[in-house]
Amino acid sequence: MFFSSNIKDKNSKARAGILQTDHGKIETPIFMPVGTVGSVKSVHQRELKEDINAQIILGNTYHLYLRPGTDILYKAGGLHKFINWNRPVLTDSGGYQVFSLSQTRKIQEEGVKFKSHIDGSYHFFTPEKSMEIQRFIGGDIFMAFDECTPYPCDYSYAKNSLTITHQWLKRCVKWCDENPEFYNYKQHLFPIVQGSTFDDLRKFSAEFISSVHADGNAIGGLSVGEPEEEMYRITDLVTDILPLDKPRYLMGVGTPWNILESISLGIDMMDCVMPTRNARNGMLFTWDGVINIKNKKWADDFSELDTKGTAFVDHDYSKAYLRHLFSANEFLGKQIASVHNLAFYLDLVKTARKHIIEGDFTSWKKSVIPQLRNRL
Ligand code: GUN
Repeated sequence: MFFSSNIKDKNSKARAGILQTDHGKIETPIFMPVGTVGSVKSVHQRELKEDINAQIILGNTYHLYLRPGTDILYKAGGLHKFINWNRPVLTDSGGYQVFSLSQTRKIQEEGVKFKSHIDGSYHFFTPEKSMEIQRFIGGDIFMAFDECTPYPCDYSYAKNSLTITHQWLKRCVKWCDENPEFYNYKQHLFPIVQGSTFDDLRKFSAEFISSVHADGNAIGGLSVGEPEEEMYRITDLVTDILPLDKPRYLMGVGTPWNILESISLGIDMMDCVMPTRNARNGMLFTWDGVINIKNKKWADDFSELDTKGTAFVDHDYSKAYLRHLFSANEFLGKQIASVHNLAFYLDLVKTARKHIIEGDFTSWKKSVIPQLRNRL
């Protein structure tokens, strides 16, 4: 069985489960580090496994198609072999990145024409093309081609975009039925619920996506600038509809407190660039709150980076040293901060899972969120 989830929290929709892929199992709820171009920025695969204990990482169709390209990926035997990562991989479909990164883009019913952010060349993605590229990349889980609606967005735009996303999903499913995996392991297609912040569109989309009976389902178009409360409201509404026996993936979320709230709303999988991107800017997430390591107050603080941290960097280095590395603009600073933040995010979801199993998730979440939001 691909997904099993027998342990449910009594006071929320949180659940603990297991996802079984051909590259190993994933304990849910899980956070997935983002490895856009086949690299989790400034973190070695060995650190990802041994220090961070990442169970699955993300890759992006848009980036990997532009560079190194599908020929190289195919010759390498797929992304896992190319990057020397033998645990599960999930690939995003390219839709979101086309919309957020390419300089110009034109959406038609057939697909999206876009200009590469690397060399200005023009390309055309269709649902079929996205599926084909994702077959070459060879992620264990791969995403349907969709449009992530911007926020704010008016009702008629959101409705039209949703209609196209649903049409595209049908074409993705058809293509996959006709074109089996290239490599000798299973790839699971996840469709994506859209509909912006409109309840009726979200309900309609969640029902349509459920009717496809995919192995798992995703919620997109959130964490794009809407207030947190809107994000929670829509997530709650959608997880009430998506089937209970399939994993739910909330795309692009979020802060540590967003992660815990989403878990309580029945989300099993999340990803976000925040732990790595913010690390590179000197922001550290900890159980006691958020640290801006560039702040002068850390200049002579020789205490451990994070006494509650699970990674070696937390105990090997001091706050003063990390601040110095950022002041001197040393690469090592970004590396240490990235390992720390990812290890913290993985510890966060592991601890959430433990509390779901022990039966006190909701009260634990309530007590821990104010601490997580602290500014140190
Ligand atoms: N990443 C974050 N949000 C989205 C979304 O709505 N669609 C896709 N494909 N990827 C995302």
